[in-house]
Amino acid sequence: MRIGVLTGGGDCPGLNAVIRAVVRKGVEVYGHEFVGFRDGWKGPLQGVTMELGVPQVRGILPRGGTILGSSRTNPLKVEGGINRIGENLAARGVDALIAIGGEDTLGVATQLAAAGLTVVGVPKTIDNDLNATDYTFGFDTAVQIAVDAIDRLHTTAESHHRALIVEVMGRHAGWIALHSGLAGGANVILIPERPFEIDKVCEYVTARFERHYAPIIVVAEGAQPAAGTMALQAGELDAFGHVRLGGIGQVLEREIEQRTGFESRQTVLGHVQRGGTPTAFDRILATRFGLHAIDAVHEGVSGVMVALQGTSIVRVPLEQATAELKTVPLERYAEAEVFFG
Ligand code: F6P
Repeated sequence: MRIGVLTGGGDCPGLNAVIRAVVRKGVEVYGHEFVGFRDGWKGPLQGVTMELGVPQVRGILPRGGTILGSSRTNPLKVEGGINRIGENLAARGVDALIAIGGEDTLGVATQLAAAGLTVVGVPKTIDNDLNATDYTFGFDTAVQIAVDAIDRLHTTAESHHRALIVEVMGRHAGWIALHSGLAGGANVILIPERPFEIDKVCEYVTARFERHYAPIIVVAEGAQPAAGTMALQAGELDAFGHVRLGGIGQVLEREIEQRTGFESRQTVLGHVQRGGTPTAFDRILATRFGLHAIDAVHEGVSGVMVALQGTSIVRVPLEQATAELKTVPLERYAEAEVFFG
């Protein structure tokens, strides 16, 4: 078989580990050939490829990013995009495609599979918000990076008697904020799933200073104030219709300082959370996903995503995986609230 591989959406630690596992098992165990499609869906849409074999995947296990490149190109927004992909795959003799990505990339994979192409998905996102899998690779690394930052910020918060706000990624789901806030001993965690009351946040900040500690507030970029309590600016939209976020940390910095009188400073972790070498957990999860994805393709299966359920890797219908996002249940948030203030 000749199999195409692509990585789409935001880069994520562990992408290269998936590619390596797919290629190593595909070539060495099954005798398949591979074609690398460049920059997400742009590759199959425009026919941009690269050589992909065992020599290309040598040494990439611990490397961040993706050797294939990535983009947020959405072929569903291009006239005849799905047909063009079908033609480009056929022209290169590609029998099946492994798409490694988050909700957007796998949403396109779902449509391609419905159109009759052989496609297997691998769940990727630092946000951990893909349904049907207990964890996505990249999440553990992002949380560890955020926790390292929070640990360091505690000392400045305490030495300077400042309220420090740490803005982490997560536009619709607060998993990174929740986990890094819990592991880093944050005094308040704000997530998109639970609109916050600024007065309550300020109460927690003041209470913390009264006990002679300095507060750390971890906020997901998509966290929102409760309706009518605070104004936020709207951002631009990307090709998948998502707002470009960032800025909630700055708003909180101003509001907390004005309302409590305590000096407040924000740190935006941004793309640092997606960069660099994956943790051992993410390397192993990504590798196992890759091994199971190539098994599925070898067996001629299509329209499925490999997923972690408990400690097993299973196959779930792509449709189920992309139907809705996995957000933080409010009872999980309630566990963390015990430590607020
Ligand atoms: O989906 C992963 C993610 O890192 C989100 O948490 C974040 O909102 C978004 O990507 C940022 O995307 P970009 O790098 O395209 O600005």
